[in-house]
Amino acid sequence: MNSVIDITDLSVKEIDSLINTAMDMHQNPEKYSSVCKGKKLAAMFFEPSTRTRLSFEAAMLELGGSVLSVHSSATSSASKGESINDTSKVVSCYADIMAMRHPLEGAPAVAAVSASIPVINAGDGGHCHPTQTLTDLCTIKSEKGVINGLTVGFCGDLKYGRTVHSLISALARYENVRVVLISPDELKIPEYVKEGPLKNMEFSETDNLEKALPELDVLYMTRVQQERFADREQYERLRDVYILDTEKLKSAKEDMIILHPLPRVNEISVGVDADKRACYFKQVMWGKYMRMALIMLLLSGEHKGADLLEGASVTQKNCPNSRCISHTEQELPVYSKNGRCVWCDEELN
Ligand code: CP
Repeated sequence: MNSVIDITDLSVKEIDSLINTAMDMHQNPEKYSSVCKGKKLAAMFFEPSTRTRLSFEAAMLELGGSVLSVHSSATSSASKGESINDTSKVVSCYADIMAMRHPLEGAPAVAAVSASIPVINAGDGGHCHPTQTLTDLCTIKSEKGVINGLTVGFCGDLKYGRTVHSLISALARYENVRVVLISPDELKIPEYVKEGPLKNMEFSETDNLEKALPELDVLYMTRVQQERFADREQYERLRDVYILDTEKLKSAKEDMIILHPLPRVNEISVGVDADKRACYFKQVMWGKYMRMALIMLLLSGEHKGADLLEGASVTQKNCPNSRCISHTEQELPVYSKNGRCVWCDEELN
């Protein structure tokens, strides 16, 4: 599969090479200004985005290519009921590579199986966001010089925060990375992350940000994801649970870095922006270069990932995850791999 749906579709060697390429692109942009001349990126965004869509589009333009865009379900034939399968076959006739964001978990995976061009998951529901992870890793490498051996704290909405799930998956493949999970009970990390990547890592859980702060090398703040809550009252109760401000930062290491995938609501006070440890706007900048590096890799044909359905078998069970694409896509079988839904990773009980 020449697509990237989950961060584990890329080897650590490939990720490290993408980071080196992104850093070179930052230093020598002219070297890369026509490597995608004549190629088209389809930016298929069925859910709102500022950074991911614009950075994909900017990335392709800076590589000398062109961009076709869908900005919402409402302005595409998805609003008439067209399936992801059909949409992906159609887009394959127009573009050379596709980036897809979708509110349903597993939608980009379905696209990757149907399309004849590489598909990049640009965020699917509360599931994964692999290109944000590439951005995060590049920022960590650029600021700290290493990824191995760091203590990384994740704070906020660890249940629905897809960027958290993807970054933990990536960090699990580096050496001696320790994770501190900071969240209220209601927003704890999903079981599939605990049973998966966290199984091979040293990690702890707490609801106390102040207590966790002094031991961290990286603090990854997240927004409470309003759009994923079925219960509005629960969202209102949890939305302000962690607010990082300059006072709290006094107990953090001088060389700790603060990351946030953005958009921010109020979980980092604006006063923190002036602190030298605040790296979330640098993170945005690296997002464009990492997406340039990824587009270049996938269009080169040198990336050969495993087939998504390899080792999976069709099951008659329904996926218990109500946000899984299998509930809406016509005649889409549920595939089971290691007891989990191949589209959204939910346990099939
Ligand atoms: N970080 C991120 O995915 O931002 P957008 O939702 O604006 O793309």
